[in-house]
Amino acid sequence: MRKSGYIFIGVVLLFIYSSCQMNEQTNNASEIDNKVEALIQQMTLDEKIGQMCQVNGGQGHDESIRNGAIGSILNEVDPVNINRLQKIALEESRLGIPIIVARDVIHGFKTVFPIPLGQAATWNPELVQEGCRIAAKEASSTGVKWTFAPMIDISRDARWGRIAESLGEDPYLTSVLGAAMVKGFQGDSLNDQTSIVACAKHFAGYGAAEGGRDYNSTLIPPRELRDIYLPPFKAAVDAGVRTFMSGFNDIDGVPSTGSEFLFRQVLREEWQFDGFVVSDWASPWEMINHGFVADEKEAAKRSIIAGVNMEMATTTYRDNIKALLDEGALDIKIIDQAVREILRVKFELGLFDNPYIAEESQNQFAKAEYLEAAKQAASQSMVLLKNDEKLLPLKSTQKIALIGPMANQAYEQLGTWIFDGDSTLSITPLTALQNEFGKDKVLFAEGMSISRTRHNKGFRQAIKQAKKSDVIVFVGGEESILSGEAHSRANIDLPGVQNDLIKELKKTGKPLILVVMAGRPLTIGEISKYADAVIYAWHPGTMGGPALADILSGKYNPSGKLPVTFPKVVGQIPMYYNHKNTGRPANPDSWTQMYDIPVKAPQTSLGNESHYIDAGYEPLYPFGYGLSYTTYEYSELTINKTNFNRDETIEVSFNIENTGEFDGVEIAQLYVRDLVGNVSRPVKELKAFKRISLQKGEQSTISMEVKVSDLAFHNIEMEKVVEAGEFQLWIGGDSNATLSTKFTVN
Ligand code: NOJ
Repeated sequence: MRKSGYIFIGVVLLFIYSSCQMNEQTNNASEIDNKVEALIQQMTLDEKIGQMCQVNGGQGHDESIRNGAIGSILNEVDPVNINRLQKIALEESRLGIPIIVARDVIHGFKTVFPIPLGQAATWNPELVQEGCRIAAKEASSTGVKWTFAPMIDISRDARWGRIAESLGEDPYLTSVLGAAMVKGFQGDSLNDQTSIVACAKHFAGYGAAEGGRDYNSTLIPPRELRDIYLPPFKAAVDAGVRTFMSGFNDIDGVPSTGSEFLFRQVLREEWQFDGFVVSDWASPWEMINHGFVADEKEAAKRSIIAGVNMEMATTTYRDNIKALLDEGALDIKIIDQAVREILRVKFELGLFDNPYIAEESQNQFAKAEYLEAAKQAASQSMVLLKNDEKLLPLKSTQKIALIGPMANQAYEQLGTWIFDGDSTLSITPLTALQNEFGKDKVLFAEGMSISRTRHNKGFRQAIKQAKKSDVIVFVGGEESILSGEAHSRANIDLPGVQNDLIKELKKTGKPLILVVMAGRPLTIGEISKYADAVIYAWHPGTMGGPALADILSGKYNPSGKLPVTFPKVVGQIPMYYNHKNTGRPANPDSWTQMYDIPVKAPQTSLGNESHYIDAGYEPLYPFGYGLSYTTYEYSELTINKTNFNRDETIEVSFNIENTGEFDGVEIAQLYVRDLVGNVSRPVKELKAFKRISLQKGEQSTISMEVKVSDLAFHNIEMEKVVEAGEFQLWIGGDSNATLSTKFTVN
């Protein structure tokens, strides 16, 4: 037979195979729909309402489960108890509908990975996915089948404590990594014992809390909502996420939990999402505090009409649905639909067929390969911000003074949201450095017992150790409790007397490496002047110590890049790379530092441009920034053509060379600017990135692609369009990339 004949048969077989696959999927889906309908037919109103109620774990739920009055429990993690409760649901309730057990599994379960913001600094979707897969395996081994993650709220404000839980400020990076998290949690099939349902939260805009104060109102113009805040959620839907959570915030006066626009129009109509939505804790009820509804009955009504299927923790649904139906304020159809969507996910999860967690599969934690993955994630998350005189990596002969309030804190290095995290598994920098460099080479003194210590009693001992050493490694930052939900800060300097201690240590004349473990970008601009090298380690999780030791020793060459802009001072916030240009953009030539302005200088003598006279216009470090022990040079940027139609793909190619002394991994970033729009456009937008591994001296030609359709934005009519016109494109190692070219779209 001729080659074309084989190809033809191959194509036919592939077609038959894929239609069988598709049939199987549709059958499964329609089979599930049939089962759901059959159940709904049999359910009493009380049982329907039960499915819409999620209660907090603890004692006293047996009877309610038996009566079908609970659809979900959060915060139960004992497999024996979960099996027991599930047995009541399946065998003792009238219709045998399983409960779904939920937990905040945010960055690992027992094995703790870096905080999400740290994971985002890896720019490594495969690794992020693997971390969530591992978290799902550990959590599901207790019977937990649903996590309230990923949190994909765009965060442009380091004061907001929950920036720790976010993937940073960029819609594209958050979309890619958020989708990876969804895939990791949910696995290849939800039906797998080790899969847990993911939850895209908080829909929407919660990260824009005014002033960075948690729970605060948000004011997000419709276009910005569509172009900046919503894309990661759309990406989560495309990745198959099966649940959403509403936010605590109101947007321009409408609490997200009561927003028909968000949950009906965008999520269900536009995006065709057919999973279900859970409220945030008490968020229906909190609409009373918002002043959006008068009482609990109205709270339930507005949330249900908005499309929030399940109420977390409070009981406005349980207490009011019946009356609302009686009064005709709600239609039974809306209740049936809410229940239908919940049951569908329970079937997809296999909870009806496979509800129990077998004894031999229970509590499978912290396997060697999990710890190894957590170490990799921690290594890749750490960002080298400064390395004067190539101080790092350290030489094995150097004696190290290890100082600082975070250097030996098994618990604090784990970060926020570690309900189940096991700090006895943590390996701290002290232990890891001793292992790596030898006990005799590491002289330890914490100097301060916690990050907030406000006296200098420990300074003497710390200085003594520093004097006896060749180099100081100061591991500071903020304790876990200083970031996360409800832990916003108005001043984001290093807390306590850390700055004083660093200055004292520097007086010894020894080179100083500042390692920061924190849940947010801290304003370390001034204090890093006292440091010869700076490593931003976020809260790195269980394996933070060994990851840091590998970086200090040079076993791992840092590759992390900032997923968020680092301001110099808190007053610059909000500061983000993808801002608008303004009519009077900053001008480096006319910016004059406040103290250099001549006395009685005439009003306009320094120009009128957009900057701060005391803090300038630049951040401390831009989005995407991160150094390596080696250097990379980008050159020869070309694109396949200069004129594109809207259905085409821009193929970019460039040369990159490792010009330093170490092998390394560089994260190349591609940015685009739409030069003229019918509304003004950001000065740069990340559109693609690639991890490139290069040995020292090696060079490589790299190609990257951007679909022209990915240049779309919402225009003045709020239509999503790619406008014809000229675009600029950059390639480089951070958002200040300078190697650029132009193209046009017809
Ligand atoms: C409130 C938080 O906002 C949400 O993210 C979390 O999942 C729930 N509490 C449950 O703990």
